[in-house]
Formats: sequence, structure tokens, C-alpha cells
Amino acid sequence: MQHTQSYINANKEVFLEELLALLRIPSVSADPAYADDVRKTAQFVADKLQDAGADKVQLFETAGYPIVYGEKMVDASLPTILIYGHYDVQPPDPVELWDSPPFEPIIKKTKLHPDGAIFARGACDDKGQAYMHVKAFQAMMDKGELPCNVKFMIEGEEEVGSENLGIFCKEKAEMLACDVVLLSDTSVIANDIPSITVGLRGLSYVEVEVVGPNKDLHSGVYGGAVGNPVNILCEMIASLKDENNKISIPGFYDDVVIVNEADRAKMNEAPFSLEQYKESLSVDSVHGEKGYTVLEQTSIRPTLDVNGIWGGYIGEGAKTVLPSKANAKISMRLVPNQDPDTITALFQSHFESIAPESVKVTVTPHHGGMPAVTPTDTLEYKAAAMAMKQTYGKDPIPQRGGGSIPIVALFEEVFGVKSVLLGFGLNSDDIHSPNEHYGLFNYYRGIETIPYFYQYYTDLKTGKIS
Ligand code: BES
Ligand code: MN
Ligand code: MN
Repeated sequence: MQHTQSYINANKEVFLEELLALLRIPSVSADPAYADDVRKTAQFVADKLQDAGADKVQLFETAGYPIVYGEKMVDASLPTILIYGHYDVQPPDPVELWDSPPFEPIIKKTKLHPDGAIFARGACDDKGQAYMHVKAFQAMMDKGELPCNVKFMIEGEEEVGSENLGIFCKEKAEMLACDVVLLSDTSVIANDIPSITVGLRGLSYVEVEVVGPNKDLHSGVYGGAVGNPVNILCEMIASLKDENNKISIPGFYDDVVIVNEADRAKMNEAPFSLEQYKESLSVDSVHGEKGYTVLEQTSIRPTLDVNGIWGGYIGEGAKTVLPSKANAKISMRLVPNQDPDTITALFQSHFESIAPESVKVTVTPHHGGMPAVTPTDTLEYKAAAMAMKQTYGKDPIPQRGGGSIPIVALFEEVFGVKSVLLGFGLNSDDIHSPNEHYGLFNYYRGIETIPYFYQYYTDLKTGKIS
């Protein structure tokens, strides 16, 4: 991989310029106003894949946004790596909280990124990380060092649930056949503490509506007698957790896999400073489930959070009104073996049951996703660990992540293969938030590490090394 590494080193500036161009296209999948740009982004990625040397590059149309496909089959007897990534991004809102426009990438130094970081929506999640794979592939191709077969599948609907990708995977299972899936859409602990993500949480997402009187009312004339949907929604939500921050929906924890004390102790050996954590968020205290550390609360324990809540008058000044309805969006992060459909059903029946007779409640389920865990005693984990050791000079720490990538569970179900979550972002990179950024160090380190994964995986799989 020496020539590949020199090629990467010699092309750092171009690799950066190309990523900046990709980040300038606002591929927000959630908002139909960006539809043309989302498609433009797919075409951009396809063109770059083609330039890098992939064969059969194609945009596969779906009921939503296209899936970018490309492959390089060097020898059927060699292993095949399927690269997954997503070119869609989260909405940039609230735009006014960005220090620079979200789709005009700029490079600035930060405390954690002294070499500079690219500030733009999607810089880390996931354009920057997905594009590392295209460039790593290009380098191996150019230098004739591609050690195995590779297939690319880059989708445009991850941030809205990957529903069409699920259908695509089932339909094209033969075309997508592979030995392992490799993706970079997660984080490392720190730039000097490499880690590999070995778990993802699942997701159940619902929207609730509480309706009271048939119209907005004068809060003096009617207030005191008529149930206020905003008050009631708040009371209902407040009752979903007890004084220990444990979720009080009956049956919610029934299927949760309890991690044993030895494994918990090991997880908590990972470097983590509660003081720094609080300081970075400007909070005086954390507020998680009693009896668990922050690392545990954000990985092996489920959660329930209001993502948005609205109702009544929110304009300038004071308007005395008793609103007719109130709404909230609520997410529940799930852990093995919780099933999103089961949890959604439990939430729905519980939420309806706690509604007072003065209001009507509707619960509308949104997309969900299964949790996933990957073992560390596998050949694919070993290859990833060896690759990181090579570039970071240290063994990576296996760590479960708190976020969700629902398609990972489906890869296992449909292709029967494990995924390697070789992410290079930092948790502090503000993904989904204003001022999302991705370190230049992280971008280049990712491009450098990926070829080693190819090499070690192929060598381990073919028995060349053990
Ligand atoms: N890349 C993230 C998931 C992630 C981030 C996992 C950091 C681990 C660490 C992904 O793009 C994402 O945001 N997923 C959504 C779920 C999806 C169904 C909208 C999430 O986790 O909220
Ligand atoms: Mn992502
Ligand atoms: Mn995301």
C-alpha cells in the first residue's frame, strides 16, 4: 500500500477541493424543496466514482432518491467489500445559528482540530466520510494496489429512514453479494484515541397530537374550566419518566439485553472525562438514568426524548389564548433486543391510556430502525483494528455508538454479512447541529486507513496472514 499512500499524500489538495465542491450542493433529503440538488449530488458522486475507475457506475432510481452504484471486480476468487455511505444531509436549520452559511464550506481551526476543520452541513455526516472511500479507492486503482473486489452503494435517504434502500438491497441481493460491508458514518473517541464502533442503537419515532376544544379560546373566559392541550401534553410527557430518569412505559424494558458487570466495567475503561463533557456542553450536571455512567447511558441503555414540541401562541409579545391543540415529536433510542414496532405499539397504547377525558390523543408512528451489535472476535474486526493500528500507531478501542443506522441490521439480514463501522468523525463535530464540521486530519486519516483495511481483510480472508 506504499504507492497508494504516496498517491494520497500527493493529492491531498485536490481531494479537499473535490469534497468542498460536493459540500456546496445542498442535498437535504427531508425537504422536497431541495429535490433537484439531491439528484445533482447523486450525479456528482457517480461521476467521481467513474473517474476513480469504477465499472458499471449507475444511478438506480427508487421511489425516492437514486442510489449510486459502482464496482470493480478484479477476481471472483478474492473477497468482495461492499462500501456503504449516504450523500444526503440533515436540514441546516436553524440557519441563523451557523457562523457561516451551511452550504458554503470554509476551513477554520478549532481546539480539537488544530490543523483545521471543514465547516458545512454534511462535512462529517456523511459526505466527508463517504467521499474518503471514493478517494481511497481511486488511490488504490491508480497505483494498481486494489487487493480485492469492491462494490459501492451510496444512498440519498439515510437521514429519512433508508426505506427505499431496504427494498433495493432485497431486490438486488445478487448484484450486491459481498463478504463484508464497510462504512464510515460514526466517530472515533479522539484523534489520538482510535476506536471502532461495535454497536448502534435502534429507533422508534412517533408524533403525537393532543386536541382539546374545537377552536382556540380566550384563556380568561374559558381558562380554568377547559383542558389546555399544551398543559396536558406537558403533563403526559413528564409522566413518561420517573424520578430516576427511567422510562415508565409498562413493558418498555422487557426485551432490553442486560449487559453483565464485567462487560460494563470494560466499557467504562474507555477514556472519558465527565468534567470536559459537561464543560463542552455548558451544563452543570448531566441528567441520565440513575445507576449508569454517561458512556452506558448513551450506548447500552434506551432513551426517550422530545425532539420538538409546539402549540399555542409563539409570536411576539403576549397573547392570551387557550390553544385548541398541541403536538410533539418523540424519539426513543433502542438497544438490543428491543424491537421498534413493539416499542412503538407499547408507546401508543400507553400514551392513549394516560390521556385525560378532556382531550383526544393521536399517535402517528414514523420510521424506526433495529439496533445492531458487532462482535470483536471476527476477522473483519481484526482487519479494521490492524488498519487503525497501522495509521494511528495504537490499537483501537471497541465502543458502542449511541446513534442509529437502521440499514446495518438489514445488511446482516439480507446479505448475511457483518458490517464494519470504521468511522473517523468526533462526537463533538456537531453533526445534525449548526456549525457541523469535519477535521482535515480526520478526512485524510480516513483515506489513509481504508486501503489498509482492504489489504488486511483480503490477507486474513485468503489465509495469507492470520
Ligand atoms: N451517521 C448518523 C448515525 C450515527 C452518528 C451513528 C454518530 C453513530 C454515531 C446517521 O446519519 C444518523 O443521523 N442516523 C439517524 C437515524 C435515521 C433513521 C434518521 C439518527 O441516529 O438519528
Ligand atoms: Mn450518517
Ligand atoms: Mn445523520
